[in-house]
Amino acid sequence: MTQEFNQINKINGTLELPGDKSISHRAVMFASLAKGKSRIYNLSNGEDVKSTLQCFEALGITIQKRSNSIEILGNGYKGLRKAAKDLDAGNSGTTTRLISGILVAQDFDSKIIGDESLSIRPMKRIITPLTLMGANLQSSINYTLPLMIHAVEGIHSINYDMPVASAQVKSAILLAGLHCNDITTVNENIPSRNHTEIMLGLKSTASQSGNTVFVSKENYPVTKEYFVPSDISTASFFIVLTLLSKNSKLKVKNVSLNETRTGVIKVLKSMGGKIEIEDIKQSSGEEYGDIIITSSHLKNIIIDSNIIPNIIDEIPILSIAGIFAEGKFEVRNASELKGKETDRIKSMCHNLKLLGVNVDEYEDGYSLSGKALNMNPTFNSFGDHRIAMAFGILSLLLKDGGRVDNFNCVNISNPNFLRQLNSIIK
Ligand code: S3P
Repeated sequence: MTQEFNQINKINGTLELPGDKSISHRAVMFASLAKGKSRIYNLSNGEDVKSTLQCFEALGITIQKRSNSIEILGNGYKGLRKAAKDLDAGNSGTTTRLISGILVAQDFDSKIIGDESLSIRPMKRIITPLTLMGANLQSSINYTLPLMIHAVEGIHSINYDMPVASAQVKSAILLAGLHCNDITTVNENIPSRNHTEIMLGLKSTASQSGNTVFVSKENYPVTKEYFVPSDISTASFFIVLTLLSKNSKLKVKNVSLNETRTGVIKVLKSMGGKIEIEDIKQSSGEEYGDIIITSSHLKNIIIDSNIIPNIIDEIPILSIAGIFAEGKFEVRNASELKGKETDRIKSMCHNLKLLGVNVDEYEDGYSLSGKALNMNPTFNSFGDHRIAMAFGILSLLLKDGGRVDNFNCVNISNPNFLRQLNSIIK
């Protein structure tokens, strides 16, 4: 479906968004591993988290939808059952990489498959450390899906230095480490998102050289009630739209404020964005609160390389803010963008060129200068939800509007994006 967007006048209102995707995946996984009944409130309703739910159902876990929550009856340590069919992770890298860390420790074989996009995403990054733990994984020749995980006698702990800042890789190792008697340690120079550590209550130490996280069987999950705060990555599309629209004000309620995720707020505030946070609360160790955004005049800044892992999913929408901000927008040290749902350096540059902005493309990012020339373009989502939403927002700010093709892909993280948007456009 190609979605048409017309220029808006202003934004006003309050939004309550579905649960954070990263926290939702983990809540489903930990509840499935625990012995007994857990309940999750405000679970993400996106396709990615559905993939995780379906994989655990296929592995013998009973999952029931209640009116305002979801109930999971976990089977406890090594309580998963061999799936009768391949485990389909759909479009979800988080499902694939995290579930692999769990499956390598089971007494049965599994096979993980995914859609076209997921089937070309890099898996060597988990295969290497999990193999060091004694696991037996076989991928295609390019280290991509399908991934076969063969049962082994047992896996063992490791001490691993992360070659890349990736919470998915870190979490795969930590989840495998939950099945080892000895302590597994993971060291990262640049911290990646830490939901796994927080939600499992893992010990971690911070030093000048980075973070070290410790895990063992002692940390195996127990049943819980989870409240999943709203997704800051989803919120960031509405935040940028409000900042860039005249006479606008928006409140987004109960948004995750985990400090490994709030880089987008830090960057936008440094650009001059009027963003305030109020009513901070906590659930399962995760902070959340209300974000209030007011129209602002933005100026581009130098984006520090250390903050890149913290804003990796928000770079598409931050780039849209960058086009309208004073000065040149540049993002570098972000080659991780290439391994996302699409190569986001290529997808962003392709669409920005359609707009007539001057684009310099690099191996690890891009820079943009000049203002938009072409009006009413049709942007290519490339089937990537964050590219689709970023260019939908951009179209709302163009005098003659614009279109985004294959817009349904927003269902991956936020099926109600258009409804939420319409509720705040005045
Ligand atoms: C995620 C981690 C990030 C992020 C992804 C979700 C997670 O990936 O891009 O959308 O839930 O752990 P990497 O950790 O591989 O960068």
